[in-house]
Amino acid sequence: MMSEDSCGRKCCMVMYSCNWRQPSERKRKCSCCWLSVLTAVSLLTLFWMYVCLMAFNDREDVNWKAFSILKLWVNWFMVLIVIAAVLTIYCILLLVFALVQLALKEPLDLHCLHKLFLFLGVVFIALGTTGISLQWKKEWHTVLLSLQATAPFLQMGGVGALTLVSCLVFQCFQRTRRIASKILIMVVFAGVSVAIFLSPLLIQSPCLVEEKQLPPKPALIGHRGAPMLTPENTLMSFRRSVGCHVIAFETDVQLSKDRVPYLMHDHGSHFLRRTTDVLHKFPGKDFNHSTNLTWEELQELNAGDWFLKTDPFCSVSQLSEQEKKIAGNQSVPSLLQLLDLAKTHNTSVIFDLKNDDNNDTIDTVNTILKSGIPQDLILWLPPKHRVDVREVAPGFIQVYNDVSDMDLDRGDHLNVKYSALSATEIWELRSRNVSVNLWVVNEPWLFSLLWCSGANSVTTNACSLLQDMTQPDWTMRPDRYRMIWITVDLGSLLIMVTLFILQREREAKKGFSGWNQRELSLFLPSE
Ligand SMILES: *[C@@H]1O[C@H](CO)[C@@H](O)[C@H](O)[C@H]1NC(C)=O
Ligand SMILES: *[C@@H]1O[C@H](CO)[C@@H](O)[C@H](O)[C@H]1NC(C)=O
Ligand SMILES: *[C@@H]1O[C@H](CO)[C@@H](O)[C@H](O)[C@H]1NC(C)=O
Ligand SMILES: *[C@@H]1O[C@H](CO)[C@@H](O)[C@H](O)[C@H]1NC(C)=O
Repeated sequence: MMSEDSCGRKCCMVMYSCNWRQPSERKRKCSCCWLSVLTAVSLLTLFWMYVCLMAFNDREDVNWKAFSILKLWVNWFMVLIVIAAVLTIYCILLLVFALVQLALKEPLDLHCLHKLFLFLGVVFIALGTTGISLQWKKEWHTVLLSLQATAPFLQMGGVGALTLVSCLVFQCFQRTRRIASKILIMVVFAGVSVAIFLSPLLIQSPCLVEEKQLPPKPALIGHRGAPMLTPENTLMSFRRSVGCHVIAFETDVQLSKDRVPYLMHDHGSHFLRRTTDVLHKFPGKDFNHSTNLTWEELQELNAGDWFLKTDPFCSVSQLSEQEKKIAGNQSVPSLLQLLDLAKTHNTSVIFDLKNDDNNDTIDTVNTILKSGIPQDLILWLPPKHRVDVREVAPGFIQVYNDVSDMDLDRGDHLNVKYSALSATEIWELRSRNVSVNLWVVNEPWLFSLLWCSGANSVTTNACSLLQDMTQPDWTMRPDRYRMIWITVDLGSLLIMVTLFILQREREAKKGFSGWNQRELSLFLPSE
């Protein structure tokens, strides 16, 4: 046991309160409140960290939004994650210090600087949550969806935490003298326990399946090529995605002043600024439409250097010197160049038409027909002039971004955001022989979930990562899962009952003599 003035004891106290004088009785009550606040804030930071990790799949959305406001490409999402991680670690450490203090029977006097940091943390999380609710509401769907992948593990973690916390709760229960308080403590604790123990009854996950019912692995479609490893929408990027065995190239088409279809995602007011050196080559010009430049002018732009400079996926260090040189020498490709590549590799092409007026569709279709690519390699997505397109190019495969549009047209290809369909809906579409493609899937947990759900293919930024997966992150037979959670629950219940009885006996032996003199027996060995 540590002596009164031991170094560790002081150290812990200094971390928590920056002070080792004994506080007054009134302060003591207050510090107990602060412990509750600290616990609540810690739970909040854990929740926020979870949200950030699950939203990581869609980090581009945040960075893109920030770019469109600030016209400056910074990996803001990474900044957000780092702040969230620091905050979480800080709160958890503080909580650990508090528990050690409690175990050492030292006063819990939280320093006001810590109080300030906790307050700032709460403000940060409140701002973040409000921000998502206002600007990025769809992301809550992703967080909910992620529970299908994580709930079984969260539940077991919850059972573990509950078992640990039960020591403190039982101690509190033994020490409280008023019957009403005793009942309150027990009712609340029992309620929470029952909820956590029985939550698996509500857990549904497509990954709780028999192994032989697991659908085949979804095929991959390269989102603007392989943008995590190479500059997006360049020939280098599409060539790189061929190495991932993608079944299709996904891209974005716009038309130049002289009617050449070329590949570029950004359009509108920040057109060309993010992915080319347009500000350097055409200083003072504020281009905002694809037709502002001729094909010849577009050819002057460098479309790869930005990738090396901003390193948007922290992946440039993985490139060899040779690859860096190639990446730094990419230009804006034309649709024709991509079609030639697709023809060579027997790969399909799917694209958005960014400025979808009538002539754009005609000129694009003509370019495709002239290129000589087999028509069934074109997955036609732009909905506006679908009827006309089908007339001149009956061989194109029509792809819909809406189930009812597809059913009206008796189509059988669907392309939607991954959170737009539930596992049951995907299953139902699959049984109707509809080919379902989901975008944009980058994280293995999400890919695993959609694999279990039966998606036919996904559009991804991370083709090299997903290509290497030979099975989903996890799958389990439903009966095995039932056995596991019941065992875990019973084990936890047994430990709790044992703890409760042990503690009661110890209390009975010692007799009641007040909170402050007594050992917190579970944290220290009894003499
Ligand atoms: C670009 O095109 C748009 C639409 O045609 C036009 O309004 C704008 O003035 C053009 N900008 C430049 C710099 O040529
Ligand atoms: C790539 O390199 C060639 C030859 O060195 C050069 O002519 C061309 O302008 C470069 N392209 C870009 C986009 O930098
Ligand atoms: C192209 O791939 C499809 C399947 O993806 C296959 O059926 C077809 O035979 C291939 N064509 C050529 C020319 O290899
Ligand atoms: C789906 O395709 C399979 C095999 O191609 C066929 O046997 C089945 O009848 C089709 N189902 C529907 C609903 O069209």
